[in-house]
Amino acid sequence: MSLVIRGVKPYGEDPVDLLIEDGVITEIGDGLKGDEVIEAEGLVALPGFVDLHTHLREPGREDTETIETGSRAAALGGYTAVFAMANTDPVADNAVIVEHVWRRGREIGLVDVHPVGAVTVGLKGEKLAELGTMAKSQANVRIFSDDGLCVADPLIMRRALEYTKSLGAVIAQHAEEPRLTVGAQAHEGETAARLGLTGWPAVAEESIVARDCLLAFHVGARLHVCHVSTAGTADVLRWAKSRGTQVSAEVTPHHLLLDDERLTSYDPVNKVNPPLRTKTDAAALRAALADGTVDVVATDHAPHAHQDKDCEWSAARPGMLGLQTALPIVVATMVEPGLLDWRGVARVMSERPAEIAGLPDQGRPIAVGEPATLTLVDPKGRWTVRGAELASIAANTPYEGMELPGTVVATLLRGEVTARDGKATR
Ligand code: DOR
Ligand code: ZN
Repeated sequence: MSLVIRGVKPYGEDPVDLLIEDGVITEIGDGLKGDEVIEAEGLVALPGFVDLHTHLREPGREDTETIETGSRAAALGGYTAVFAMANTDPVADNAVIVEHVWRRGREIGLVDVHPVGAVTVGLKGEKLAELGTMAKSQANVRIFSDDGLCVADPLIMRRALEYTKSLGAVIAQHAEEPRLTVGAQAHEGETAARLGLTGWPAVAEESIVARDCLLAFHVGARLHVCHVSTAGTADVLRWAKSRGTQVSAEVTPHHLLLDDERLTSYDPVNKVNPPLRTKTDAAALRAALADGTVDVVATDHAPHAHQDKDCEWSAARPGMLGLQTALPIVVATMVEPGLLDWRGVARVMSERPAEIAGLPDQGRPIAVGEPATLTLVDPKGRWTVRGAELASIAANTPYEGMELPGTVVATLLRGEVTARDGKATR
């Protein structure tokens, strides 16, 4: 069966027809014919998005998200591959769990689900997990992370970098010096002081990023920095990259758009780790993403149950939903202000993430002979976010009621339509 996407604009450029056969783009031209047609006038075609940082909560918290509901949210957000973080219950620190996540993702088939393996046993930071076994398992783990927690011990981090170097894998570090964030509830600054919340200082992130860049350089290993949140971290990364450190970094949509002034409502929907920083930090992160200092956008999609969010601030869990709102936030913060064009969006949401993770068939050019793994975006579309309408089981979106620009109209994974007009196909 063949499919034609008619009149679509690859990377927002001149409109063309794309002919898709057996999951592959076989012709690009004008007036192409196929068994099925998607009318795509005015839509932008991008390579399918790749999220390096998703929490799917299975196993353990299936009341908030499952691999199935998370896959739907991902497809609806334009994603064709996601990396499922290891802080599940039980922790994904062994081959049995990572193979379960990988297999379940394949059964659902809406998005390629790649499990992230834990760096240390039980995320305890004490003993390295069996990285080699996970890497050699069917799940073929390529990213290891204790995300949620920092690999704080420098010797453990050094050994982890040595192992992953030999495996051709990468450590994704949640940079948070735990001694500097004991009891922390909000960005250490004016707002936290006014609200009486214990501060999470920027230096707790920056000191770990600096240390890990030095360690990665020393070992000759690759390092990936999760959810960069401060202007100072961008400076450290700029310096580390300038001296040849193999470091990549991600920023979340919420750190690009939101800042700690939102905390004055005391609504824990705004509680996240690392915390929302200042307006100056958010502006510095947008600039760092535009100039490549920060390589990619990753969602840190973190579903939480109503009872874990709708409670007093200090008891609430940190995290917010992100998969279905990522592209619109990137449009609002980066495309509309002219910081990124659609080629740039393809780079930060698809090509670079696929490269960092070593995925050979994602983030590919829109060209003849390439997989039809695509996202079709209506750049003029606008939609109002309603947490209850999102595909996730949880509803903890900080964008409730906001009207956002840029809608994902369709997502294709190797030629199969996985989402269309706001509905996942499975
Ligand atoms: O806000 C966060 N939520 N940050 C993390 O590092 C972990 C995540 C979660 O698992 O909920
Ligand atoms: Zn994290």
